Amino acid sequence: MNYLAPSILSADFSRLGEDVSVAEENGVAILHIDVMDGMFVPSISLGFPVIESIRKKSGMVFDVHLMIREPERYIERFAQSGADIITVHAEACTHLHRTIQQIRQTGKKCGVALNPATPLSALDYVLKDLDMVLLMTVNPGFGGQSFIPAMYEKIRELRGRIERESLKTDIEVDGGIKVSNTGRVLEAGANILVAGSAVFEGDIAANIREFQKIL
Ligand code: DX5
Ligand code: ZN
Repeated sequence: MNYLAPSILSADFSRLGEDVSVAEENGVAILHIDVMDGMFVPSISLGFPVIESIRKKSGMVFDVHLMIREPERYIERFAQSGADIITVHAEACTHLHRTIQQIRQTGKKCGVALNPATPLSALDYVLKDLDMVLLMTVNPGFGGQSFIPAMYEKIRELRGRIERESLKTDIEVDGGIKVSNTGRVLEAGANILVAGSAVFEGDIAANIREFQKIL
């Protein structure tokens, strides 16, 4: 099954609750929430209070993308704040296997994210433990950047590996996803598409409908 996961990073934070409701009312099942620490990535975005607030208003699956160093310090807190999927960056974890086990112990779904230049071999020995792999298709830190074309091949390689190993792992792509490249990204093998600016800039409901036509 293919999903659109709107990223609230591009929402209007002065009316975040309303923007989230519009997404949910228009059939969105997964909400992508970007947490940035100003260290792993240059920017700082949002944290526990924001997630807790929107959790009270929404029944969507909360897909929390942690762009923070040493995320093991906060896994339990994000689980309590309302995350359903917790994704950590392989580059940000000294003991990735341990951090994955920590996420699993919370009972939440577990994802690992890879930056564009990080090889898929970073997933060797842990892929079977994951519900989802997040392939960054831009360098993380900001919305509104352009999709890096070399990532089509990376998606294809990962999908091939997941199929060869008969796994059910989801492949999420994040960064520069638009209606115009959705077809190629799906064809390469991704099944969860994060879109920030393409959903929250302009008419949110109309933008979602455009994606839904091709998902
Ligand atoms: C970037 C974030 C993305 C961001 C995507 O570091 O992880 O989720 O919101 O934004 P767009 O879709 O505008 O590239
Ligand atoms: Zn993200």
